[in-house]
Amino acid sequence: MASYEYQPKCVDEIVLRPFAFEFPDDLDPIWAPDNVSRSLLFNGFSITMPYLEPFLVKTMREAIEHVDDPNLIDDMRGFMGQEANHYRCHRRMNELLKQNGAPELDAVETKLKASYERLSTRSLRARLAYSAGFECMTNGFTTWFIRKRRALFGNASPHVASFWLMHMVEETEHKTVAFDAYMSAFGDFWPRFFGVFHGSFHVLGYGALGMVASLKARRELRRSARALEVVRLFASMIANVGPFMLRALAPGHNPRRDEDPQWMRDWVAGYAALPDGALIPLLDTAHPDIPVPDFDRVEFAHG
Ligand SMILES: [Fe+2]
Ligand SMILES: [Fe+2]
Repeated sequence: MASYEYQPKCVDEIVLRPFAFEFPDDLDPIWAPDNVSRSLLFNGFSITMPYLEPFLVKTMREAIEHVDDPNLIDDMRGFMGQEANHYRCHRRMNELLKQNGAPELDAVETKLKASYERLSTRSLRARLAYSAGFECMTNGFTTWFIRKRRALFGNASPHVASFWLMHMVEETEHKTVAFDAYMSAFGDFWPRFFGVFHGSFHVLGYGALGMVASLKARRELRRSARALEVVRLFASMIANVGPFMLRALAPGHNPRRDEDPQWMRDWVAGYAALPDGALIPLLDTAHPDIPVPDFDRVEFAHG
């Protein structure tokens, strides 16, 4: 698109970080002990990632051919590297969740695989618009997770909480890339507009499907306590993520205008002090504020 001009992104660099987590072998699918539905919905989101994120990487790799700006090409490489790290770590965690009491997620994965195969046959413009739309929503997820971290992750598994928040920090770090790639390669408004719905609701839908499959397998689907948890959870999600999606629909939208949360910036700055080969320090989910972890107190991976 002739009118596209690269603008500096909100972070200095898109950093590729190893997802150095050693998940415990007995990782409980109900990792938020006070809320079954929240655990299962987030597990549903996690199950989508090894299908969604390789799709984003492939789409971005193809889009590079349509982009000239060397700064944007650098960003696109950073995006692909981060997303590849994300889905590999989600896959590790998902295998443990399935082994430890959520085998029903296998059937959801079969559906996801078929769905992304169908999506892969769409035009590059449609796939890139989907990617840009999804990424606008994830920026809202970062804000939701950080702002509501005490409610969402308080007293939860520190491994699951630390992994999700690290993933979302990186989502915000590369929040401009899919949008820029779309604007540079195509730029038309309406496909991008529909991409916000397509990219967001496709993933949210499969996440919800995962939750329903797990509630059903546990014979929890008809319990009123679970219904209440789901209503409260979706109300919180809509209140926190909805505004990001609405803003993304505007013709002059630019994700640079969504300010990065301070907690995310502190996490990025803190991480820079982590020595090579160290495990990611886990969040203290019992702390009333769940602060950014202390990156100076590190443990090294075995072997
Ligand atoms: Fe990701
Ligand atoms: Fe992303």
